[in-house]
Parts: sequence; structure tokens; C-alpha cells
Amino acid sequence: PVLVVDFGAQYAQLIARRVREANIYSEIVPSTATVAEIAAREPAAVILSGGPSSVYADGAPAVDPALFDTEIPVMGICYGFQAMARALGGTVARTGRREYGATDLSVGAPDATLLRDLPARATVWMSHGDAVSAAPDGFTVTASTPDTPIAAFENLDRRLAGVQYHPEVAHTEHGQDVLRRFLYDVAGIIPDWNPQSILDEQVAAVRAVVGTEKVICALSGGVDSAVAAALVHQAVGDQLTCVFVDHGLLRAGEREQVERDYVAATGIHLVTVDAEQRFLAALDGITEPETKRKIIGREFIRVFETAAAEINAAEGGVKFLVQGTLYPDVVESGGGTGTATIKSHHNVGGLPDDLQFQLVEPLRALFKDEVRALGAELGLPAAMVKRHPFPGPGLGIRIIGAVDAERLAVLRAADAIVREEMTAAGVDEQIWQCPVVLLADVRSVGVQGDGRTYGHPIVLRPVSSEDAMTADWSRLPYDLLARISNRITGEVSEVNRVVLDITSKPPGTIEWE
Ligand code: XMP
Repeated sequence: PVLVVDFGAQYAQLIARRVREANIYSEIVPSTATVAEIAAREPAAVILSGGPSSVYADGAPAVDPALFDTEIPVMGICYGFQAMARALGGTVARTGRREYGATDLSVGAPDATLLRDLPARATVWMSHGDAVSAAPDGFTVTASTPDTPIAAFENLDRRLAGVQYHPEVAHTEHGQDVLRRFLYDVAGIIPDWNPQSILDEQVAAVRAVVGTEKVICALSGGVDSAVAAALVHQAVGDQLTCVFVDHGLLRAGEREQVERDYVAATGIHLVTVDAEQRFLAALDGITEPETKRKIIGREFIRVFETAAAEINAAEGGVKFLVQGTLYPDVVESGGGTGTATIKSHHNVGGLPDDLQFQLVEPLRALFKDEVRALGAELGLPAAMVKRHPFPGPGLGIRIIGAVDAERLAVLRAADAIVREEMTAAGVDEQIWQCPVVLLADVRSVGVQGDGRTYGHPIVLRPVSSEDAMTADWSRLPYDLLARISNRITGEVSEVNRVVLDITSKPPGTIEWE
């Protein structure tokens, strides 16, 4: 792999993603990893990420100079660039000036390899206080900015290079080209990581682990569990049984999509459990969001355990459980620093691992976009693979107020209109998702037909995001919003008002509960 050393900022994941977009497998390691540990992984290259603002700060992580004796190709980015310069005998100075945001880069060496084919000027994204004031011996300086004379350097004999700016962020022009130049030309790596190779590798791995045992998987209707199950099915065929719990909090057409389209595409053996009454009874009168989430999570596990016990009961049950865990979950839980629980995320595809199963997690190394590519490779329907995220607790946390069958029907009807119109307008791929929320305890006066109404508002919450950690509200076209509003107030009789949520995250979370 290419190992990305995480110096503590949010950038390491992004770099790993960009490396994979260049068709090379990449993983993140903490900056506490020793050179021996890194070398033991036999990386094709190492990338040192951005991080805290100053290499002089107390406790700022340093780069062990021994890394450069291993002959592993290394690229330094931002903080990693400075740490690398220092470790190699260059100097880093406190400039007292900070460069933030879009900066003009002048490429000074037309024969440079790292910045080859770049125009003489490009806009790049900067975020730093200190700067490299003297490059290490043997390095050629290849670019500068108005405030930073040494903005890129390289030493091709030693296969080392670096840039002061952030090539991984979308605001940097030609950033991906620079990463490719490093990976392909400086480090000499042959790009061979693609959906087909991932699939072959994972199918073989699942076969090796599972052998002839029985496997079970909870399908949520979401992308991750659907792809994980299809992959395991390809590996072990009918040893796999999927369980789909219909908790009555699904959107219109979701159960059919799983029962009909998914089964048709995969041939997977599916058991659907009808548990609507049970969930609605448990949620009766509950309005507090965390309480709702906990109830839904608890009921889900009970239903799932009962269904699981019946599968292969004659032969003593099932040994393996498939989970659609993704790489960001792995990285984030490995980060381990006690972040506050904002919401107890209940992923219906993701059960707690204290269930009596051994876990099979074939997507553990993948990012979401890679999972989607894999799903397409496995022949899953496009509507399923491209599906927007939908929370495990479903519409239960999109009714603000107590949940009941009537309110669910109202929200389901409004949500179906929103999805239909957004798809027709072709905006699905521009947004991350669009929760539709029913303010069930709020009423306002309206006039519909000839009469006064006293109905409920529906909230539209379209957001754009890269990873759901932060998000901005999406600027959907006004005529699309107008069509949605007209149709909902016209077709869903309990609703007389449609409002738009224009809050970014933070401060608002994406879901309302
Ligand atoms: P928030 O509301 O925390 O949501 O900004 C971030 C993303 O996570 C989704 N979400 C969930 N997904 N189980 C899930 O599987 C959950 O309990 C859950 N809660 C929120 C939300 O839709 C958004 O994409």
C-alpha cells in the first residue's frame, strides 16, 4: 500500500482517497507509528499529511530521519513538507505571516517531475504559518508563492518530494495531477487498484474465512449492507441468508426495492420480518429523539436475533455475521480520542458486535465511492447503488413529535414526491441527501380551496457534503422547490406549508433528531 501518515488534521483521509482515485491502494497510519512499523508494511510510498500549524509547537509530531534511510519514496504535504525538510537537514522558519486559502503558485522549474505539465501559474490551497526557508541538500526547489519562496521541492535520485500547499483539496488546481506525478513518476508505482481487483481480493478473503459455514446479514436497504451481502453471496453462495426487518419506518417503495430488485439482481436468499406493529407499539407516545433512537435500536436487535436463531437452527445456528463497516468508521474508531456523542447512530445494517457471531466485514478497507463502484461491478441496480444515505431509524426520526401510522403515511407521501421531483430534475448526484421532515406537533393556518386549513409543515433539508461530518445546505433550483411545494400541499391533505432548512452543519446536524 501507500501509507498516509496522519499528523492530526482532517486531511489524511482525503489524501488516502485521492491516492485510491489514482488507482493505488492506500491506508492511513498514525504519526506515532515507528519507522520499523512503517517499513514492515513494505509500502510502495509514504505520504506525510498536513497537521497542526507549527513544527515548533509543544509536542508537535516530528518525522524520524531514519524514514529517509529506508529508500521508501516519500512525499510531504504542508506540515509533512516542513517536518520532512527539517528531518533532512533543511530549515523551517517562523515567518510570522500566515497564508490561508487560495494562493497563487508560480512553478519555477519547467523540467520538474512533481509539477510537470503544470501551467506556470496555478491557484492552490494553503494553510500554514511556518515555512521552509532552506531546502535540504540535494533538493531542487520547483515552485514558490508570494509569501513562500520554497513551496515545492524534489530529489528524484532519492525519490523524495513535497509541496507546501494541499494538493488533495478540490480548491487546488491540478492537485490530483501532482499526486499522480508523485505516485507514478517519482515513486514509480503501477496503478492496479480498481473495483475488479478489490472484488477478486475480497471474494477470495471471504471464502478463506467462512469456509463451508453459514452466514447471515442484516439488510437495511442502504448501499453498504447491500454491497457487502452481494459480495459475500458471490463468495459463498447459498451459505448466506439475508434478513430484512421491516420496522414500518421505511420510505415508500423501499421494501419492494429490496425484496424484488435486489433479490432479482443477486439471487440472494432473503427473509423479511414484518415488525411494524411491534415498533409502533414500542414508540407509542415517545417524542424525545435519543429515546426514539434507543428504542428502535433495541427492538431491531431483538427482532434480528429471533430471526437469526431460526436460520439453520437444526445445525446449531449461524456462525458468521456480515457487516457493511466502511474504512472511515474504522479510522474514526481507531482514532479513539473521546469525541462527544452527538447522536447514538444506529445503523440498521450495523449491529453491535457483542452478538454471538464472528464478523465478516468485506468493506472495511473501502470508502463510500469505492463501495458504490463495487456495487456496480456486482451488478446491483443503479437505483440501489446510487441511493442517498438514509438513517437506520428511518422516518421515526424525521417525525418531530410522536410516531404513529397516520403521521408516517403523511411523511411517506411527501417524501415520495420530493424524491420523484428531484430525480426528474436530475439533481440527485449533486446533493448528499435530502431528509424530508414532518413537524407533527406544529400547526399553522392556511387557505386551501375555499376553506381555512390548520395543517402541518413539511421541512426540506437538502444538503451537500463530502462525508456527512460537515455539510452545507444545497442551493436547489427555485423552480424545483416550487414544484415540490405545490405538489406536496396539493397532494398531501394534512400539509399546508413547505419550508426550506438553510442551516449548514455545524451548527445543525443533517437529520433533525
Ligand atoms: P447527522 O444527523 O448526524 O447525520 O448530521 C449524518 C449522516 O448520518 C446519517 N444518520 C444515520 N445513519 N443510522 C444511520 O445509518 C443512524 O442512526 C443515523 N443517524 C443519522 C444521516 O442521514 C446523515 O447522512
